[in-house]
Amino acid sequence: MKILHLYYTSTGNTRKVAETIDNTLQDAGHQVDSVKVDKNTQADINVLDYDMVFAGSGVYEWLPGKSMQELFGRLRRQHAENGDIKPASPKRPGKSAVIYCTYGGVHTGINEAIPAVKYMGQLFDHLGFTILAEWYVPGQYVPEKMQKFSEAGRMGDIRGRPDASDLNEVAEKTKGILQV
Ligand SMILES: Cc1cc2nc3c(=O)[nH]c(=O)nc-3n(C[C@H](O)[C@H](O)[C@H](O)COP(=O)(O)O)c2cc1C
Repeated sequence: MKILHLYYTSTGNTRKVAETIDNTLQDAGHQVDSVKVDKNTQADINVLDYDMVFAGSGVYEWLPGKSMQELFGRLRRQHAENGDIKPASPKRPGKSAVIYCTYGGVHTGINEAIPAVKYMGQLFDHLGFTILAEWYVPGQYVPEKMQKFSEAGRMGDIRGRPDASDLNEVAEKTKGILQV
């Protein structure tokens, strides 16, 4: 099985989740092409070359990071031009995706993270991948000036998240996905 992992991290929280996923996949004997997306990431990645894709990002203004949005925009255009995105998006048997985010949710909790996950998932849904799971992992606000957001928002005290327990849950869910 060919596995691609695209993730964007600005303050390091999503990197912890991404590394946990990669390590779990590797421990289970899978090779994974893992790409830490930044503004220089080119759209020469062909997601259709892969059987399973993991895609994740921190949440910024309810959406994935800018570099991730730009990459997904380029990939969508490229696949649309190639005719890979068909009316009704027929399923491509054997192709699946897991979409995840880390988020702070200070104002409205998980509701401000849902658009980010739905945004990323749409590329794969359009291409006919089956979305196997959507994971939402709390991630503290790292910048010093945003500390109060980590202490007293809709999510309560999320300082130190994602913590060992969050990452253990991610590892267990990754093992679960491999059983599908
Ligand atoms: C500038 C900034 C804006 C953010 N905006 C949101 C937001 O709109 N909604 C949300 O749920 N979390 C928001 N967060 C919290 C981040 O999504 C959270 O800390 C996430 O884990 C960051 O991931 P990263 O460290 O991988 O970049 C914001 C954090 C920062 C620093």
